Amino acid sequence: MNPISAVILKMSESATWQRRISSWRVTRRVVERFMPGERLDDAVTAAQRINADGMSVSLNPVGEHVHSRDEADEATGAYLQILQRIREEQLDGNMSLKLSLLGLDLGVDVAAGNLSRILATAATLGIFVRIDMESSAYVDPTLEIYRDMRREFDDVGVVIQSYLRRSEQDVEKLVAMGAAVRLVKGAYKEPPDIAFADKADVDRNFERLMTRMIDEEAQANGVRLAVATHDRALVEKALTQASQRGIEQGLEFQMLYGIARDLQRDAAAGPFPVRIYISYGEAWYPWFMRRLAERPANLGFFLKHLAG
Ligand code: FDA
Repeated sequence: MNPISAVILKMSESATWQRRISSWRVTRRVVERFMPGERLDDAVTAAQRINADGMSVSLNPVGEHVHSRDEADEATGAYLQILQRIREEQLDGNMSLKLSLLGLDLGVDVAAGNLSRILATAATLGIFVRIDMESSAYVDPTLEIYRDMRREFDDVGVVIQSYLRRSEQDVEKLVAMGAAVRLVKGAYKEPPDIAFADKADVDRNFERLMTRMIDEEAQANGVRLAVATHDRALVEKALTQASQRGIEQGLEFQMLYGIARDLQRDAAAGPFPVRIYISYGEAWYPWFMRRLAERPANLGFFLKHLAG
């Protein structure tokens, strides 16, 4: 990992830096590039605009790691409200959530219980729910909960990070069960024994995992793959592979709000759906710092505004 990115990711976990950076007015202006606002209304307005441009959305209220059952219940209630709102507004959209917000730090049973309530409501409303993947310590419990939920619910998906050395084995299990998988590179600070340190290895593994999840066996098992990247070369490789295999469904592209808009537009003109992941909310600091770390050029943009 680039040393600047490593420092930014470290800062994303620091309360002192959070207080300092959040208080700068310039931070708000840069955050607006990646987030339509802090309220669900802001996300809905952005979603309507994106839908009108022919793309679907996934709504993600930012926030992580609750430490009491009350907080986990509150987060569950907020997710349920989002589902209702998606239906009321007739958005072409689904929802992404984080198990740490549903109480995963309090126990697998707490998070699983809350998730099950959310999935039951989502199923009645006909809305797909994606479980985001967090740092490596959460991968085992997240996959365990995902496998459990799939016994009861069909429209639920999980995320695999290509920077993790273990992901190839995880993908094999997910292919066998015909899972719905969003493939990403990975956004957290991980040690080199757990995650590839070299970006070229992360990219190569992304391609390997993507190829596996659109091969014949995976397709026959009903794997639904979301290729979630702004890496144009990988998007083009996915398109080539899908066309060579005659794949017409079960594949979509996903990108983050405000990032690589030209690629979003180009992909939307192609044969597969494009979904834009919209984050919003007040607890944006760690999320924002991960976006800065992904692309040190964003830091330049930030510093330029700061100097201005
Ligand atoms: P890469 O970092 O190689 O970037 C490719 C190109 O995209 C760059 O050259 C640049 O032009 C552009 N780009 C990338 N990031 C940018 C940024 N922040 N600002 C401006 N330009 C940028 N991670 C995770 O660990 N768990 C998760 O659940 C998710 N969920 C998720 C959903 C969706 C829809 C997306 C698109 C991504 C995630 N991620 C994630 C984040 C993911 O792991 C990864 O950090 C980012 O997607 C950036 O990596 P790229 O694949 O875009 O490639």
